[in-house]
Amino acid sequence: MIQLTNTSDAGFAVFKRWFRLRSGIDLEHYTDVALRRCIALATHGVGHDPKRLKQQIAARQICVQTCLRTMIPKVTYLFRDPEEWEHLHAFISWRIQCFPRPLRVWSAGCSYGAEAYSLTMLLDDLAPHYNHYIVGTDIDDNAIRASIEGIFSTEEADTISAKYGVRYLSARGNDHQVIARLRRQVVFEQHNLLRDPIKSDMDVVACRNVLTYLNKDAQTQMFDRFYASLMPGGMLFIGLDDPVPPSPIFLQLSRCIYMRLPGPAQSSTLSGPDFIQFIVKYVQIC
Ligand SMILES: C[S@@+](CC[C@H](N)C(=O)[O-])C[C@H]1O[C@@H](n2cnc3c(N)ncnc32)[C@H](O)[C@@H]1O
Repeated sequence: MIQLTNTSDAGFAVFKRWFRLRSGIDLEHYTDVALRRCIALATHGVGHDPKRLKQQIAARQICVQTCLRTMIPKVTYLFRDPEEWEHLHAFISWRIQCFPRPLRVWSAGCSYGAEAYSLTMLLDDLAPHYNHYIVGTDIDDNAIRASIEGIFSTEEADTISAKYGVRYLSARGNDHQVIARLRRQVVFEQHNLLRDPIKSDMDVVACRNVLTYLNKDAQTQMFDRFYASLMPGGMLFIGLDDPVPPSPIFLQLSRCIYMRLPGPAQSSTLSGPDFIQFIVKYVQIC
């Protein structure tokens, strides 16, 4: 009998292999804390024999999505950490003044879509005349299906500023739904941040409260991927408890917002004095 007490157990190796085959997701990328939650779910009332575990997993139909939901909570809110959204509003406003054009925005690990819709409301408020590209992605297809509906509880709807709530949410039964015009502006897709091709030429990547569940190597990999995804001068928006992006390639603008700096050999839409002036103005409005 093998005890599944830690993440390097042989029994856990069986589970990881099963999980990777079923989902294409490598659990090695996640923190031990997240993995332990996953193990607890998989072994609950099942025993610790790897063979039995395998049979029981199949028999109980413990599905990949349930494991993922257990490992990484889906908690999300519209305009989560409002102060940081105020900063983002100011930075995006400045960016649109400097470069008047539609923006490309990615909510990566969007859960039920609150973050993607918050971005959509913010852009519609700032620059409604542009056809912005807004994409929300998550590894969990149930979350993606729910995101498309854009339904939020009345309690949650009441937490957001009236300037957004009144214009962009409408009552639906006991809940509130994002208005159809805004829902049509967002594309939602199932997407594994660690494996699938990144979205390119982004002005803003919001990846909030996801990195904190990944181990150090995976976090480093993700910062490289976000760097490649963002245009020079683009912004990375992370969560309050997320790890800090590496400083030579990202400049901190506020507690959760970082600017992607141009690489040394890279041609940039901003260069020389323009770029310095741009950064100075950005930092001034912090
Ligand atoms: C705590 S929620 C964060 C939701 C939102 N970003 C926020 O801050 O309110 C974390 C989300 O990350 C998603 N996630 C975890 N691993 C992922 C991966 N490899 N690729 C894409 N999404 C992932 C989970 O499914 C979950 O919906």
